[in-house]
Amino acid sequence: MEVLGIDIGGSGIKGAPVDTASGRLTEERLRIPTPQPAKPRGVAEVVVEIVKHFDWTGPVGVTFPGVVVDGVIMTAANVDHSWIGVDAKKLFDGATVLNDADAAGVAEMRFGEGRDRMGTVIMLTFGTGIGSAVFVDGVLVPNTELGHLQIHGKDAESRASDHAREEHDLGWEKWAGRVEEYLRHVEMLFSPSLFLIGGGVSKKADKFLPYVHVDTAVVPARLRNDAGIIGAALAVK
Ligand code: BGC
Repeated sequence: MEVLGIDIGGSGIKGAPVDTASGRLTEERLRIPTPQPAKPRGVAEVVVEIVKHFDWTGPVGVTFPGVVVDGVIMTAANVDHSWIGVDAKKLFDGATVLNDADAAGVAEMRFGEGRDRMGTVIMLTFGTGIGSAVFVDGVLVPNTELGHLQIHGKDAESRASDHAREEHDLGWEKWAGRVEEYLRHVEMLFSPSLFLIGGGVSKKADKFLPYVHVDTAVVPARLRNDAGIIGAALAVK
């Protein structure tokens, strides 16, 4: 099946048709800057533009950086708060809508490092925030929001996201210390068999993972920028 996958991020909205059997993009992806502020109507216009660009009439899957239950947006930590309560499935004309980290995790479990991994596998995406996707024997437990665990009385993502690294001008080793502390906390709660590290910073894993010491195996995600697009497409039933 071919599905149009669209990944809504804080800075860009990316889309491409995906062959769901192979996980490959069948056309070059299109990226359009996210309108600022990223309110529902402006974002919906960009989604329509992407659909038109590909002359798409088939099924569409869309990611969103917040909790999504039955197509309805429940939280919006890093995007405009007017999203809360919006029926995104309706707004996007019946598309399947899911959390961005869940989508990236679904793609990584099917076509990347998570393939055939049983037990509890936790994908964490480090970007503007920290996203999470928890899998038990390959089955997703959606909307886990582990980026908002409290560490030293603060939201974990405000200390350990890639954005926090840049904002506080932290060196790799210093930031890695925060990531380690965070992973130890998640490890204590879930005793996972594997951590998958995603988000844009995962391509620089060699700069920080050597400083991250936890008991669980930690592996950078294999599908880089396109994980969200592919996962959005795979989510369409
Ligand atoms: C949001 C999550 C999202 C993550 C990554 C967090 O702030 O609460 O829903 O997956 O950022 O975008």
